[in-house]
Amino acid sequence: MMKYIVLYSSRTGLTKRIARSIADALPAGTPCLPVLQAPADIASYDCLFLGCWMHADEPDQIADEVLHQIRNSHLALFVSLHGTLFSDTIAKKLHHIVEKLPDGIAIEGTFITSMEEDMISSDANLEFAKTFAENTLDRLER
Ligand SMILES: Cc1cc2nc3c(=O)[nH]c(=O)nc-3n(C[C@H](O)[C@H](O)[C@H](O)COP(=O)(O)O)c2cc1C
Repeated sequence: MMKYIVLYSSRTGLTKRIARSIADALPAGTPCLPVLQAPADIASYDCLFLGCWMHADEPDQIADEVLHQIRNSHLALFVSLHGTLFSDTIAKKLHHIVEKLPDGIAIEGTFITSMEEDMISSDANLEFAKTFAENTLDRLER
């Protein structure tokens, strides 16, 4: 089994709640921490689940600082943002985040929570975040 870690940046708490749901679906003992409390051996984890929110259409400042330093071979991104789900706006915002990553990192999955949708912060969205984590895990461990 690969080693997983969940790191998140969150201002009002939504991304943090999603992070916890994701961690619940990953192997027992998977760390779930704010980005600023990332362990020194972060690169030893095979797969990083990284959560951020968007500010001025950039990844929030804390996440922005780590994006270009990621050394894990596998990455799953979860992002809280404004935008109509399924729209090209969302694709462009995600693309903007992905462009900041170093070369060679495999993006294994992405999960969006849009502030425009009723699902924000709902139990259904938290369950959906678990499904995202389970699905990503399943593909990685196959
Ligand atoms: C000050 C502020 C600025 C924001 N700017 C943007 C933005 O430029 N683009 C966007 O898509 N979402 C923007 N948002 C929406 C946040 O991404 C959204 O509220 C997110 O859920 C916050 O996550 P958190 O609860 O984990 O802090 C902004 C939110 C705040 C509070």
